[in-house]
Amino acid sequence: MSERPVLVTCGLPYTNGPCHLGHLRTYVPADFYVRYLRRTGEEVVFICGSDNHGTPIVVSAEDAGISPRALSEQYHAHFDQTFRRMNVVFDHFGMTDDPTNHRRTRSIVERLIANGHVYSKVIQQSYCKKCQRFLPDRYVEGICPHCGAPARGDECDQGCGKHLEPGEIKEPICTVCGTRAESRDQEHYFFRLSRFKEYLLEHLETLSGTLNARNYALGWVRDDLHDWCITRTLEWGVKFPDRDDLVVYVWVDAPIGYISFTEEWAEKNGRSWKEYWCGDKPRVTHFIGGDIIYHHCIFWPALLEGAGYGVPSAVVASGMLKVDDHKFSKSRGYVVWTNDDYLDKGLPADYLRYYLLAYTNHTKELNFSWKMFQERINNELVNTLGNFAYRTLFFARKEFGGVPDIAVSPDILEEIGTTLSQVDSRIRDYEFKTAIDAMMTLAAYGNNYIQTNAPWKLIKTDRNAAAQAVKDCIVLVRALSLLFEPVIPGKAQEIWEMLGNTDQIANHRINDAIEDVAAGPLPVPSPVFSKLEDDFIGEMDRLLAHRVAEAEKKMIKNEMIPFEEFCKLDIRTGNVVSAEQVPKSNKLLKLKVDIGGEIRQIVAGMAQFYTPEEMTGKSVVVVVNLQPARIFGIESNGMILAAGDTASLLTPEKPVQPGTKIR
Ligand code: 2FM
Ligand code: ZN
Repeated sequence: MSERPVLVTCGLPYTNGPCHLGHLRTYVPADFYVRYLRRTGEEVVFICGSDNHGTPIVVSAEDAGISPRALSEQYHAHFDQTFRRMNVVFDHFGMTDDPTNHRRTRSIVERLIANGHVYSKVIQQSYCKKCQRFLPDRYVEGICPHCGAPARGDECDQGCGKHLEPGEIKEPICTVCGTRAESRDQEHYFFRLSRFKEYLLEHLETLSGTLNARNYALGWVRDDLHDWCITRTLEWGVKFPDRDDLVVYVWVDAPIGYISFTEEWAEKNGRSWKEYWCGDKPRVTHFIGGDIIYHHCIFWPALLEGAGYGVPSAVVASGMLKVDDHKFSKSRGYVVWTNDDYLDKGLPADYLRYYLLAYTNHTKELNFSWKMFQERINNELVNTLGNFAYRTLFFARKEFGGVPDIAVSPDILEEIGTTLSQVDSRIRDYEFKTAIDAMMTLAAYGNNYIQTNAPWKLIKTDRNAAAQAVKDCIVLVRALSLLFEPVIPGKAQEIWEMLGNTDQIANHRINDAIEDVAAGPLPVPSPVFSKLEDDFIGEMDRLLAHRVAEAEKKMIKNEMIPFEEFCKLDIRTGNVVSAEQVPKSNKLLKLKVDIGGEIRQIVAGMAQFYTPEEMTGKSVVVVVNLQPARIFGIESNGMILAAGDTASLLTPEKPVQPGTKIR
């Protein structure tokens, strides 16, 4: 064990919407990890809080007709309670809008300025004339300058995923009033991230955690590192020093929240936050979603280094969540709400914890479906672990009044020892799923052991042999409760109490699992897990299907366009005069199309489905008033209509002149 105490944090949830399974994908494994380290005797502080600043919260608060602070307080309380209900227990859960974080953020920004890592520059920023305001981040939407996909002001969320700097977005539209925004000059402040390239390359080489975090970040740093604009024209946030009209970008004060919340915890507990954040090699581990690796592995360590703080030692990034094999999406209805859909239905927190932890490798995509959830819980928790514990304790009490007075077999202790070391090395590699597989294998071993030894038969012929088998099983049950505590803390405590214990299982070390159990009475056992019934699961499935159908209806309604909009499209028939493959592209064809008295050059992605020879002479349907675009460096003036993934061409059913209008 190292002399420095460990700090584990979780990405901070934004306070503008309720907790869902996407959140839990990160928080449950972090809680599991903390519990495990504590069971090995490590001193760990577990810190989180809510992320209150940034434009989405201002927009949601405006919609709700309340202040951003009031909205944040509501959701802060919501997350705090929901985490507790899920047995995710933080030592402190702070708010980034609280005074400690305002103070700490300003102090860090001042240090960065003093150290020469910040400069000011006049940039062209989107401005809405109608609303008479600059449009930071989510107040503007448009086209990603890198890949051409529709994007939000601060991130290309539907295309390449890149972070967008203020003023970078193309064709900006104000999200409040829908007006085309214009560009206006404004002075902003930039963090010299580009200066940290060498430092980051070195830092990332030794960064521990999951490989996805390190490798993505290394790729980005090697590729290109831009300076970051760290100010926004907003009222809500932490004021930039000496500039009342600007606040710092939310991605500056949010991670600083990790430090501020440690300060608040330390203050209450008579400790020093510096133990965790200053000096060489702090032991800070961040658990985050895979979508914020850039912020935690690049921006954040550079900021800390620039301000003279210690940097995190590990970043553990989770894979994405799918619901019924569909990308998680609130707007499309593929969402499971932690309270409404799960806890409030009376389902045990520990079942969901087990599913989230045992389903797959932490960095991979995790699919949630009610059916699969039912299968895993019924087969593994109910039939394997629960069944073994209940059978053992029931029989022990019935035949021996409790724990029989006989020493455990050495083989059993050896089996437990092997499991403990497998679990330990897997967890230290952040391989949570396989660690839990090892635990469940021990439960299956126990089930098999009781089945083959059949103490209910032995008791009739050899009471001593029956006592031995029962004792061995009791020791296994105890070991399983200790092993499973980080996974299913509530249920593990129940098993622990059925073993006659009255204290908290969490006060015990995991290595206590390799101990014999003293003879003595046992309380009346009861099954700890109960089966998820088909009817209930069917009902949950219907609820989800209904939500998806409703979302689809809403989307279709939102996407309806008035007839006048449709009339703006100029669609005509055309004749392909010539076609050739675009060099170095296996998808694109360059076509010359006669659209009636005019030959248009159009680049079309159909080379995989039509050869240039097949295309030449074809009658096609063309949108002719599309804005020109450069595709692979070639100008394209129009779009040829085709159906589906195989680009099946639309063509007039009877011969018509090129240039005939479609209506
Ligand atoms: O992406 C998010 O949901 C952010 N609220 C996470 C912030 S984590 C940290 F850096 F503060
Ligand atoms: Zn506007």
